[in-house]
Amino acid sequence: MRPSALREMLSAGGPPARLSLAGGLPPEEAFPFATLAELASELLSGHDVRALQYTSAEGEPKLRSQIAEVLTRDHRREVATERVVVTTGSQQGIDLVGRVMLDPGDVAIVEDPTYVGALRALAPTGARIVGVGCDDDGMDTDILAALLADGIRPKLCYLCANFSNPSGATLSGTRRQALADLSRQYGFVIVEDDQYGRLRFRGEHIDPLASIAGDVVYLSGFSKVVAPGLRVGYLSAPEWLVRPIVLAKQAADLATSSLGQRLVSRLLDLPDWWDGHLALLRSIYAERADALTDAVDAQLPGRLRVRRPEGGMFAWAEILDDAVTSTALIATARRLGLALVPGSEFSVANTFEHALRLSYSTLTPAELGEAVAIIAAAFDDLGSVRA
Ligand SMILES: Cc1ncc(COP(=O)(O)O)c(C=O)c1O
Repeated sequence: MRPSALREMLSAGGPPARLSLAGGLPPEEAFPFATLAELASELLSGHDVRALQYTSAEGEPKLRSQIAEVLTRDHRREVATERVVVTTGSQQGIDLVGRVMLDPGDVAIVEDPTYVGALRALAPTGARIVGVGCDDDGMDTDILAALLADGIRPKLCYLCANFSNPSGATLSGTRRQALADLSRQYGFVIVEDDQYGRLRFRGEHIDPLASIAGDVVYLSGFSKVVAPGLRVGYLSAPEWLVRPIVLAKQAADLATSSLGQRLVSRLLDLPDWWDGHLALLRSIYAERADALTDAVDAQLPGRLRVRRPEGGMFAWAEILDDAVTSTALIATARRLGLALVPGSEFSVANTFEHALRLSYSTLTPAELGEAVAIIAAAFDDLGSVRA
């Protein structure tokens, strides 16, 4: 296991940075305090014992069937309730899949760059993690096809097909089909982490891999669409994987919080509330993504190239001046009051020395403009010539 540069940086000595594009937290102003307070009060004042008692490792039966209904609609395929497992955040889903599927020496494919929490969850299995490069259309399936043709035999391929953390890229429909075909041909499981799929604010919906591929473990949850503090996530898995996953979950934490599950279940009973809440989230993220990327285009031409996301919380940025490394830029920006995180934090092989992951979720549009002005000042300080 390696320590998180991100956490160490955020907890590094000195005063906290005034502004941050480093973290990946949802904005507090989008937390539905009033609705949750009302539902929690109903549950607790009504002495709903099941909200406070242990529950089963698979999850609350009603919540599982509600999730199965949502997935059946979204995946345009029948998803039986028995294939749904409620998890303590999606992070646990990744961990459980790794534990039950991977032995030392096995191969797991990930996007490079990839979600750093997945790297951390998969590392203790002893599996060999093989990164496959990405571009604006997500994981490059031609590279994956070449690796497979060369004889690499992965057990699984983990990726965020929508608005990936950290790259912000979305896997194109053509590549989704190619990945589905490769997974059938070579017999590996696709682990589709869809934390951000509901946060599309631009462009056309693309069907998830779970709609088109064979064996898919689909992971998602309520952290990014309600609140991460509830720690309620879920997965749907092929039938043959459900029992091992549930056994591993029993060993890991017995069950996910009953109170959290019952709150989420009550929310799922309110479809109109969801429509309004998701619309609010999408409008916040759209406005912030535009504020960030417009400011980069206006203030950092020739210095930073940023990928415009169509949803989610992250934009990937490449430093165009070879003389400026992310390490130097980050240290200088930090002195000027801005926290940034290097692209290398999300790399399988410690590459991306000239990249940053920019998270626009928690700053207002005005603050995002200020943050970009600090990056411009940091480039100036480093003697980078203005384009
Ligand atoms: C891609 C991805 N997967 C999983 C997680 C973990 O989320 P949680 O455990 O809160 O559901 C995150 C959190 O940022 C994420 O970005």
